[in-house]
Amino acid sequence: KFAVAAAIAKPTASNPSPPQPTTLLPLRKIPGDYGPPLLGPLRDRFAYFYTEGRDAYLRSRSNRHRSTVLRLNVPPGPPIAADPRVIALLDAASFPVLFDTDLVEKKDLFTGTFMPSVSLTGGYRTLSYLDPSEPNHAPLKKLLFHLLSSRHQHVIPEFRRTSAVMFDTLEAGISAKGSADFSAASDKAAFDFLCRSLLGTDPADTELGPDGPKIIMKWILFQLGPIMTLGLPNLVEDLLLHSVRLPPALVRKDYDRLAGFFRRAAGPVLDEAGRIGVSREEAVHNLVFSVCFNAFGGMNILLPSLVKWVGRAGARLHGRLAEEVRSVARSAGGGGLSMRSLESMPLVKSAVYECLRVEPPVPLQFGRAKRDFVLSSHDARYEVRAGELLFGYQPFATKDARVFGRAEEFVADRFVGEEGGRLLRHVVWSNGPETQAATVSNKQCAGKDFVVLVARMLLAELFLRYDSFDIEVGTSALGSSVKLTSLKRASF
Ligand code: HEM
Repeated sequence: KFAVAAAIAKPTASNPSPPQPTTLLPLRKIPGDYGPPLLGPLRDRFAYFYTEGRDAYLRSRSNRHRSTVLRLNVPPGPPIAADPRVIALLDAASFPVLFDTDLVEKKDLFTGTFMPSVSLTGGYRTLSYLDPSEPNHAPLKKLLFHLLSSRHQHVIPEFRRTSAVMFDTLEAGISAKGSADFSAASDKAAFDFLCRSLLGTDPADTELGPDGPKIIMKWILFQLGPIMTLGLPNLVEDLLLHSVRLPPALVRKDYDRLAGFFRRAAGPVLDEAGRIGVSREEAVHNLVFSVCFNAFGGMNILLPSLVKWVGRAGARLHGRLAEEVRSVARSAGGGGLSMRSLESMPLVKSAVYECLRVEPPVPLQFGRAKRDFVLSSHDARYEVRAGELLFGYQPFATKDARVFGRAEEFVADRFVGEEGGRLLRHVVWSNGPETQAATVSNKQCAGKDFVVLVARMLLAELFLRYDSFDIEVGTSALGSSVKLTSLKRASF
């Protein structure tokens, strides 16, 4: 008895509730229910989107059953998804089971309980839908690693170029109209930046012209419609988006333009595909997916979210960020930003991680049990059967008060210092711990380091140019819609 008590970890400020040896936890039947067929899923879809909203839907059921692991339905349900039943993981202790590719399979689960038609991706199941056990997973991921590393030296200069144009446009918008739409400006800048840095092509110089972002948003709607809300009247929206699939034929022409652009612009990567045994066409559609869905779609959510959280934090934080960025840039000489100078900005780095923690851009993750096993929450152990679908709601895992103090608040310097650094393993926006690397054998985001670099660059550029800024926040289909109402030029 004594030996067991001695093994129990003590709480600290950064870890208010350290994990206990899981064998001490009681074995509990997974609570929750799915309701009657058809009616249960329909009622729950309404609750999830409209009458309660996603967070309240999950929170109320978790409270009712006094468990952070429970059975419930997730949308869209039938007829789009034949089986909406999942085991929900709503805490930081159970969530990471989704990263264990020995225990869970990730095949065709990128968007959850339904998979969009492959005719939206040139007839291919793209990398995001492949389990690491499938033969194409490793070569396709290798191809992306090759793309990212071969274009490495273009990332910082192209980001600086596109963000300078973006900020000039935003400043002009504020002086003309009193406010400027950051979300729209960052969409355009993000697409230009991705094409120029990763493909070496400016879309404005091609047949695609300025249409890239608009086409991609439409194409994403055709894929994610069943789990999106657009703010239309509830019944209309539910019938239009959540009850039937939008016909892929309606976006084919647009998609073909996008694929054509990549076929012409991505020559060197397509040559590399041949060398690692991936066909040129499969490589084209995978590049479209990674650059337009994974990267552009992710940045479309992350960049406004970053400006929102840092904007809301106010002028004191802005002052500290400006001090840090400018002093590092000054000592680096020439006002330049480099990989190394960005590494020496602890507050910038922490603010980026904190944003990814408090509002993970991709909040829903899924995995199917490969075999029977036992999973643990903070409080209990639960038996899972082979074939059952696990659904992790990441915002509850990364705002788990038993791991993070002031878990619901944006604490910009949370990850500064040694103790802060130890918390990084609980930041899992990339479908894995921030302390772990994406590899060809896991399902962690291939663009993990790229994304963190881009977010750091955005803050660094912002605070090289401005002392502070003000925002207005609304909602959009994928994330936040952010307007800038002031940009105060650098005074020191
Ligand atoms: C996978 C997030 C940017 C390429 C993922 C996953 C997440 C994610 C959550 C795992 C999904 C799952 O299996 O449940 C994001 C976010 C991004 C971003 C939030 C931007 C803010 C990028 C970029 C690239 C990329 C820039 C590459 C250019 C991929 C790929 C996968 C993936 C290829 C699948 C990995 C595999 O199958 O092993 N991403 N991502 N992502 N991401 Fe990202």
